Amino acid sequence: MDEFQQIYKINTKKSHSLYKKSSNIFPGGISHNIRFFNPYPFFVRKANGKIITDVDNNNYIDYWMGHWALILGHSPKIVSKALAKQVMNGTLYGTVNNLSLELGDIIHNLIPRAEMMRFASTGSEATMYAVRLARAKSGRKFIAKIIGGWHGFNSTLLETVNYPFSSAEGMGFNPDRNYIKSIPFNDLDASLKILNSIKDNLACLIIEPVLGGGGCIVPEKDYLQGLQEFAKKNGIILVLDEIVTGFRLSINGAYNMFKLEPNLITLGKIAGGGLPIGIVCGEKEILSLADPKNRSKEGYCSIGGGTFSANPVTMVSGIQTLTFLRKNKDQVYDKINNLGNFIRVELEKVFYEYNINAIITGIGSLFHIHFPNDNIIKIKNATEVALCDREKLKNFHFVLMAKYGIFFLPNKMGAISYVHNKQDLIKLIESTRSIIEYKLLQ
Ligand SMILES: Cc1ncc(COP(=O)(O)O)c(C=O)c1O
Repeated sequence: MDEFQQIYKINTKKSHSLYKKSSNIFPGGISHNIRFFNPYPFFVRKANGKIITDVDNNNYIDYWMGHWALILGHSPKIVSKALAKQVMNGTLYGTVNNLSLELGDIIHNLIPRAEMMRFASTGSEATMYAVRLARAKSGRKFIAKIIGGWHGFNSTLLETVNYPFSSAEGMGFNPDRNYIKSIPFNDLDASLKILNSIKDNLACLIIEPVLGGGGCIVPEKDYLQGLQEFAKKNGIILVLDEIVTGFRLSINGAYNMFKLEPNLITLGKIAGGGLPIGIVCGEKEILSLADPKNRSKEGYCSIGGGTFSANPVTMVSGIQTLTFLRKNKDQVYDKINNLGNFIRVELEKVFYEYNINAIITGIGSLFHIHFPNDNIIKIKNATEVALCDREKLKNFHFVLMAKYGIFFLPNKMGAISYVHNKQDLIKLIESTRSIIEYKLLQ
């Protein structure tokens, strides 16, 4: 690996010098924890389509795609043209506007369970508001989440994110943490046992339909339905966090695919078309608790949106993106889902051919590689992901980046966008083959 660290350092000298300055200003030199990787992250100069270019003029085919948000690639023309126009008409009205109504209408039509919604600027806010609404509606205190589930940096849900999933994710949390209970993904019996022990004081269960940051893991048959059944029976609000899967797996959301009926849904990423957004939406009966006209009434729940909520720039990029996806849904989703199937099958074949123990997980246009240490034959939950050889995966991603110009945020799942094509994936497969043949994975 030292050799590739050297190649990287030689090719990214300007990034190195910027990183040194950056470390004096930002803790760790970054503004999102996962954006740091050793020896230092490259600094991006521009991004277009599927390519990001760093300040040293290295090009990378991007599979990180802005935290998986950029389903149409970087700066698609339909979005950037509309944005240029909007910027001349104001970037932040700080009051209600037609554009938010337009985007709200589109979302409401695509996701009928989004009877009402509140726009915010990040997914972290959306999930924070979702659990607050659930507590307000139910009058209960406990929140259940999945071990390894990621719902953003809000204090309430920053629990059981990192292996071994038992200690606090850091200092500075409020006592609220005692009211968070975590359950193992894809183990219905164990999950129900835990939920049962707190069911009378359980406000909501928040769950990603496909475990994203936790390892790109698909739910096993009947797991989500089993949880939903339990929630319904016990008056527990089901919050489906579709911040990754919303408009990614299908135009109508994963809840539709998995035949779920969540009471609340959180959306983000793709919905903002590459600009900041978070949305909490769902049943009118719950969302209307946030109506500020009822501030003095019992049951009122104060949630935000924030200074930049529903800003016209995000609204325009969201409208353009979702309108494109809606109009071209067969073409877009057929393409990216087929490419996703192709890469999962072909990567598995390459590793198998060379007798390397690897498991490829994912669904639709999302995929992830795991190198199990023992006899795991299927990855079912975040603990199994954590027990895989994470160092090997990090090194694999690093070599792809440093030698082959293919970018995954080290250790993170990849996302295929509409701008990727089969040739890009063949390049990824061939690069993987070379990495194995040169014995760089040992
Ligand atoms: C499932 C899920 N929920 C919530 C969030 C938080 O969204 P944001 O980073 O916009 O705050 C993320 C971010 O990756 C996510 O993957």
